Amino acid sequence: MITKETTWTNVGPSSNFPLHLGGCVKVGGKQIAIFHLSTEQKWYAVQNFNPQNQRMVLARGLTGDADGTPIVICPLHKYRYALDTGACLTDDQFSLETFPVKEVDGELLIEA
Ligand code: FES
Repeated sequence: MITKETTWTNVGPSSNFPLHLGGCVKVGGKQIAIFHLSTEQKWYAVQNFNPQNQRMVLARGLTGDADGTPIVICPLHKYRYALDTGACLTDDQFSLETFPVKEVDGELLIEA
């Protein structure tokens, strides 16, 4: 049986990540885009790499809502991704890896 080992990594004060805008951190060699949406008071973490055109751009995307699903819209070709599942809402051949993220005592932790 293969198990995936993960650990929680402190990526700094949550105040470093402004509401509705993306931030990018590197954890375990992966670039991870982090978003904080006020509508749900929730944090989301997804890969920064957009598989559609293989660019590290999603942390610069626009956030929004698609029929109740929190999304990020890629700044280049406007592909839309669900932040909770990583599913691409524009073309279902693409998807993003998502990561557990939580705020503890003002610090942001990512499991990757
Ligand atoms: S690079 Fe993101 S939609 Fe094309």
